[in-house]
Amino acid sequence: MAIFKVKDNVYEVGAIHWDRAIFDELIPLPHGTSYNAYLIKGSEKTALIDTVDPETLEQLLANLRHLKVEKIDYIISSHAEQDHSGGIPELLKLYPEAKVVTNAKCKTFLMDLLHIPEDKFIVVGDGEKLSLGDKTLEFILTPWVHWPETMTTYLVEDKIAFTCDFFGSHLATTNMLIEEDPVVLEEAKRYYAEIMMPFRRQIGKNIAKLEERKIEIIAPSHGPVYLKPQFIINAYKDWIDESKVTNTVILPYVSMHGSTKRMVCHFIDALVKRGIHVKPFNLTKADLGQLSIALVDAATLVVGTPMVLAGAHPAAIYGVFLVNALKPKIKYASFIGSYGWGGRMLDQMKALLTQIKPEILEPVVVKGNPRAEDFKKLDELADKIFEKHKELGVI
Ligand code: FEO
Repeated sequence: MAIFKVKDNVYEVGAIHWDRAIFDELIPLPHGTSYNAYLIKGSEKTALIDTVDPETLEQLLANLRHLKVEKIDYIISSHAEQDHSGGIPELLKLYPEAKVVTNAKCKTFLMDLLHIPEDKFIVVGDGEKLSLGDKTLEFILTPWVHWPETMTTYLVEDKIAFTCDFFGSHLATTNMLIEEDPVVLEEAKRYYAEIMMPFRRQIGKNIAKLEERKIEIIAPSHGPVYLKPQFIINAYKDWIDESKVTNTVILPYVSMHGSTKRMVCHFIDALVKRGIHVKPFNLTKADLGQLSIALVDAATLVVGTPMVLAGAHPAAIYGVFLVNALKPKIKYASFIGSYGWGGRMLDQMKALLTQIKPEILEPVVVKGNPRAEDFKKLDELADKIFEKHKELGVI
């Protein structure tokens, strides 16, 4: 049983998934996660905002039993993804009088994903309100954080925004009410990078929409609740700002027999000598979440790969594919690497960048083990990056 009181008659009653290691069979969760569900007891009606991943449903049910919740009038569904909605069918069995309150798009998703009957729904529109007696819920559509149907519920009297994935963090913790915590910020940045970064223009609109209300608490559906909402709002504003990049080169690489690795090592030194930060990631063992975090605000990407089977190494292709999918705000990109007898590595890598259009700086691709003249070309690439970063005003 782990219940966290957020305000009078507002409780976090969800589940902590301490040992979940991966999400969507894709995203590493080094610190587990939580699925937050919020119970709001009004003077006349009781609402539950979201449920939990079905694997952890018993935790939510135990919390409801502990609070002696005999009736739930409304189950608010912010987002149809099953880590929040997956418990709804079971709750409807336990609380048969409950209605599922959501927007029209989310309703269709829930009917498809969970086979919830149509007569169980109350559909609400943007800005619509629902009274619980002495508490009022306002529904605000905040799409593309990261699905198109997500909505925020604003508890008017307590000035709490329940934002679901938006502003969340994958972090299993019992320290659920935080003010300004750098650990939470790092995990929130990881979460933003992994699923929200491609939608940052829409996120900016959603933040503006939420800021039309006075918000005293942000209560997301993963990780801790923010008692100082400006802490996370300001971080998001920095992350989505296209002009805010740092003097950093992200350097994902893979090397088979050491030639590309020697180039990478020389290039790291060359960048450091010029006062440029560099974050190398060996793609055969890197935490791709860390790579995603690094991509949030770096100015430049350089990918290192050898040629294999007449093309770039598959690990490098996967890395560049991921970068393209995440659509970071990088301004410059280049490629370095070595080949034995030939191939189409550069064309292949450039062709993968369909969703972002960084300026491509002259790549350095060498035959065999790099020679002095090849290292000189790497120095020239570092010079070019220095020049470009100066133009950006980040050096
Ligand atoms: Fe936490 Fe998009 O679900």
